[in-house]
Amino acid sequence: MPVIHVLNGPNLNLLGAREPAIYGTATLADIEARLRDMAAPMGLTIVFRQSNHEGDLVSWIQEAGLAGEPVILNAGAYTHTSVAIRDAIKGSGARVVEVHLSNVHARDVFRHQSHVSPVAEGVIAGFGAKSYELALLALGPGPLQNEK
Ligand code: DQA
Repeated sequence: MPVIHVLNGPNLNLLGAREPAIYGTATLADIEARLRDMAAPMGLTIVFRQSNHEGDLVSWIQEAGLAGEPVILNAGAYTHTSVAIRDAIKGSGARVVEVHLSNVHARDVFRHQSHVSPVAEGVIAGFGAKSYELALLALGPGPLQNEK
């Protein structure tokens, strides 16, 4: 079965409790369960991971990219700071959909810059936990898949 990696960066382990007015009340486990439910009928297997450490994300992106397996990436605050994550995407050839629960462009100016966006296939932000579902739909099979 084709594999899709869902990689989550720092502080996303706190979802549910963390600033719910911004990030919602769904936990990361809720999001994982929802994606697994969606992926099964699409014939996809999900590898779902979270780390507060930049190097873990770099290694997991490399692993996925070198295996030719796409990535749904919420790099959290590293989105705005990490040249290493950007280089891992570019260097391993990983196909990445960048996701954010919040609309980063409607928030602090320091969140407007992303090192991931220029090397991502697409960006989904602002739809809460649904951002992840939209990313999975973007990567999965669909009637218009030949358009991309
Ligand atoms: C986030 C947005 C980032 O700016 C923030 O640092 C996060 C979460 C989001 O999903 O909205 O940790 O990536």
